[in-house]
Amino acid sequence: MRVLSTVSEVRKVVQESQRPVGLVPTMGFFHEGHLSLMRAARETCATVVVSIFVNPLQFGPREDLDAYPRDLPRDLAMAEGVGVDLVFAPGVQEMYPERQLACVEVEKISEGLCGAKRPGHFRGVATVVAKLFNIVQPDAAFFGQKDAQQLQVIRRMVQDLNFPVTIVPCSIVREPDGLAMSSRNVYLTPEERRAAVVLYRSLKRAENLIAGGEHDAGKIESFLAESIASEPLARLDYAEVRALPDLAAKPVLSGEVILAVAAYFGRARLIDNLIVRV
Ligand code: PAJ
Repeated sequence: MRVLSTVSEVRKVVQESQRPVGLVPTMGFFHEGHLSLMRAARETCATVVVSIFVNPLQFGPREDLDAYPRDLPRDLAMAEGVGVDLVFAPGVQEMYPERQLACVEVEKISEGLCGAKRPGHFRGVATVVAKLFNIVQPDAAFFGQKDAQQLQVIRRMVQDLNFPVTIVPCSIVREPDGLAMSSRNVYLTPEERRAAVVLYRSLKRAENLIAGGEHDAGKIESFLAESIASEPLARLDYAEVRALPDLAAKPVLSGEVILAVAAYFGRARLIDNLIVRV
């Protein structure tokens, strides 16, 4: 496995590599969710590239950029273990030698849910992913359904800007009790960790309500909000039901919808979601 930190080296090595090239963009501090993306890439691509870059552009001024967990040696060992060919781990100077003036904005899809709570977040995500696509020029790129809004933003960016890359969605990897794996789970105290399962439990109960015939989006959202708020250690950020793939609000549920929730447990802001076919 090669580990490179400059744009020019990556361009050169990828040019000499066998296609198809698969890219897994990450911010590091790997868990099984990240590894599942790398394994999916390994199955279908001759060359697997993983990027590790904690992207300052997607963090708000009061967010956890400085505290974000990092452990490059551990990440490299894990990537090597699943057969990654090339890791691109640039520094901030390499990715942003000057203030980034050209940015990618994906309207509408980036506006609700996390976009409403984290202004500028998806602009930062779309911009860094566009840069990574231009640097690595992959044939396929792998994204987790865990960050469902991010996945839709990237899909739409690729569609609208004609990036020659196939976006491959990968299912959410969970802990045995249902908590979605996240690098931010390390922020949780043991009590908060036990409380955090309320997210998945609430989503599954809401799914049952829908299966039982409740198609009123407002009622499902109220149920989710109350269910999460019933956990004393949870501070609800949002609980919403949206249509796929455009994430538009839909008062009466039909077709494919996503139940999306976010809540704080101590300083950790966790998100989760469930896709339901009505
Ligand atoms: P990061 O949070 O490190 O996630 C990297 C990829 O792993 C994303 O596609 C995310 O959806 C996926 N992932 C995280 N947890 C997962 C889980 N439990 N199951 C399945 N997949 C999971 O998302 C980012 O980084 C950044 O925004 C990035 C796209 C790299 C741009 O900076």
